[in-house]
Amino acid sequence: MNSLKTLLAFTFLFIFSDSCRNTKTPEVIISAKFDNVIYHLARSYITSLPELDLDKFNENEKRIIELGKSLYYEKKLSANKTISCASCHDISKYGVDNMALPSGDLQQIGTRNTITVLNTFLYGEQNWDNKFKTVEEQAIGPIFAKWAMAMPDTIELLNRLDEDKYYRQAFDEAFPSSKSSITINNLKKAIGAFERILLTPSRFDEYLKGNLSVLTPKEKLGVYSFVMNCKSCHSSALVGGGFAIKYPIFGNHFDYSNIQNSDPGKYNVTKNHEDIFVFKVPQLRNIEKTFPYMHDGSVAKLEDAIRICSMAEANCRLNEQDIEYIAAFLKTLTGKIPYYALQDRKTFN
Ligand code: HEC
Ligand code: HEC
Repeated sequence: MNSLKTLLAFTFLFIFSDSCRNTKTPEVIISAKFDNVIYHLARSYITSLPELDLDKFNENEKRIIELGKSLYYEKKLSANKTISCASCHDISKYGVDNMALPSGDLQQIGTRNTITVLNTFLYGEQNWDNKFKTVEEQAIGPIFAKWAMAMPDTIELLNRLDEDKYYRQAFDEAFPSSKSSITINNLKKAIGAFERILLTPSRFDEYLKGNLSVLTPKEKLGVYSFVMNCKSCHSSALVGGGFAIKYPIFGNHFDYSNIQNSDPGKYNVTKNHEDIFVFKVPQLRNIEKTFPYMHDGSVAKLEDAIRICSMAEANCRLNEQDIEYIAAFLKTLTGKIPYYALQDRKTFN
């Protein structure tokens, strides 16, 4: 059932010729019955993102989120005050830097591709090796990592915040019951609270709600091919996440990539031999915008990432048309940039 040949039993392919400009536009038409089949398949494996209602937060929660936002854009959290979380996770670039590998405060190049912060709080695990469970736990990882913000120690970090009048007041107001409000725990809570409003619902969520006309026939064929080939790993609201698995299962990473990176993945965290080359199944929300791809940023184009993942993880060779359709579907997962999270925009009205 994987190939387009099966689909042709349900669909008709028309070549529509535009006599004025003499160009040929292929048009795909799907029968009503097959349209319904695709919709139900999609709903069985992919779920909507939760709705975000910024008005539902009480005043105290808003103060914590605003503090988290300031910290997210704060360069003082890096050793030489050169970078913030946003330098690598640029919200206007869908939470990434679009670089193969990131460059940190000490000009050191990281070994893993920057993975997006958008929607990521919905995962049960964070980082390519699932090292952390929550965005709160994860938040201090990059602050002290040499390849990222390279802060020497906790004392230096807390002192810098304590010396700043804005932060003294903002922490006190956000955490009024704490005896000393500037603590690592409160810093994690605030950054995490900010990350928990980074949601990007897309056209595909409209489709899941029952508005079938928002997807084109080509995108729907992409949904079908995707569900048939990719759902065992890329499913649920994030179209990924949930667990980590060996990459590649079939073949050798160097066959697919020109980067000689031998990152052992989750093995770094657990030291279990079964975890060598085990990586998180990444979300595919906004995947059109979060290039380059894979844990080492070795793949520049979405179509190539689709081709490689189908061979490496699903052991199938998709034809060019299926790849084109899947890419068309994946682009429907591009949501709106959460403008309220941009540094120069107001978060709440
Ligand atoms: C120098 C670039 C850089 C900076 C600065 C940086 N990150 Fe990251 N971030 C990365 C990279 C690279 C990864 C993947 C790390 C890994 O898998 O080991 C990552 C992973 C993450 C993840 C996990 C996402 C997922 O889907 O698993 C979150 C959340 C995150 N960063 C938040 C932050 C926050 C909050 C800050 C600031 C306190 C920050 N990052 C600073 C580059 C950066
Ligand atoms: C057996 C599980 C599995 C299956 C099946 C699978 N994937 Fe993946 N996918 C992964 C893993 C794991 C990664 C991360 C690879 C890495 O570590 O670099 C990934 C990465 C990707 C990426 C790059 C994401 C990024 O942010 O860099 C894309 C795109 C992708 N897969 C698409 C697909 C498509 C399309 C299919 C079906 C044809 C598919 N995958 C089937 C597990 C799977």
